Amino acid sequence: MSQVWNAIADWQNRRRMLAGRSIGFVPTMGALHRGHASLVERCRGENEIVAVSIFVNPSQFNDPKDLDQYPRTLDRDLRLLESLGADEIIVPSVTELYPNGYTFRMEPDSNELVLEGAHRPGFLQGVLTIVLKLLNLVRADRAYFGEKDYQQMKVVADMAREFFLPTQIVPCPTVREQSGLAMSSRNLRLSPEARHRASHLFRVLSKAANPTEARATLEAEGFLVEYVEERWDRRLAAVFLDGVRLIDNVPIPENKPPSS
Ligand code: PAJ
Repeated sequence: MSQVWNAIADWQNRRRMLAGRSIGFVPTMGALHRGHASLVERCRGENEIVAVSIFVNPSQFNDPKDLDQYPRTLDRDLRLLESLGADEIIVPSVTELYPNGYTFRMEPDSNELVLEGAHRPGFLQGVLTIVLKLLNLVRADRAYFGEKDYQQMKVVADMAREFFLPTQIVPCPTVREQSGLAMSSRNLRLSPEARHRASHLFRVLSKAANPTEARATLEAEGFLVEYVEERWDRRLAAVFLDGVRLIDNVPIPENKPPSS
């Protein structure tokens, strides 16, 4: 049976009772799909206790409309987590996580403000701040992050190392629909037709010879391209399709010589 914790003090009492057991943690913003489920399953396999948080974190949204429109499907999420064997589900309120507003924040060096950090002002700060709060509340042995949000996973792992946090950050592979489209809560906002077109993002990133070619192909297919860049041995992109922002990344494709 999963237990749901709304009040932080109740969770902290519970946490004291779990001393001595291995704890795995999956932070989420809800609207759960198979991508999230894969993290919870991996966590289930590697820890005695599985803790999941559901919290739509206002400080990481640079666009208030995006925050308003973020899908919220709590009942469904709780049923899914129960079926996956999650033990502890933490669903805190904004006022408890930010009791004095957004007073203190984690600020990465400006050199880190590339990609998402450059295009969504305040995003990385908001993510690092909430993840630090949550990691301190859960004090897990391991926390699971998807490679779908590659830069997020990387800055969280870097922060955890730099601040000697006791939690190991575990990267998990991107789960995709059969079409190749990376699973995302935001896909819910795509029309069926746009959802079909969205799957081209993965294909173009995987096949283009270089970022310039990827950008040109995506633009020709009607995507509004924010960036396509190569870093950390990955090719990463953010695009808009029908006003919905999508991100994805793939290992940099090897340039195969043309077959003769
Ligand atoms: P959210 O978008 O709900 O994602 C929660 C976790 O699920 C993240 O680690 C994300 O990378 C992972 N995830 C999402 N889609 C995935 C997919 N298709 N395959 C594999 N993993 C996937 O990311 C956040 O929430 C927030 O920024 C958070 C870390 C919770 C901080 O607020």
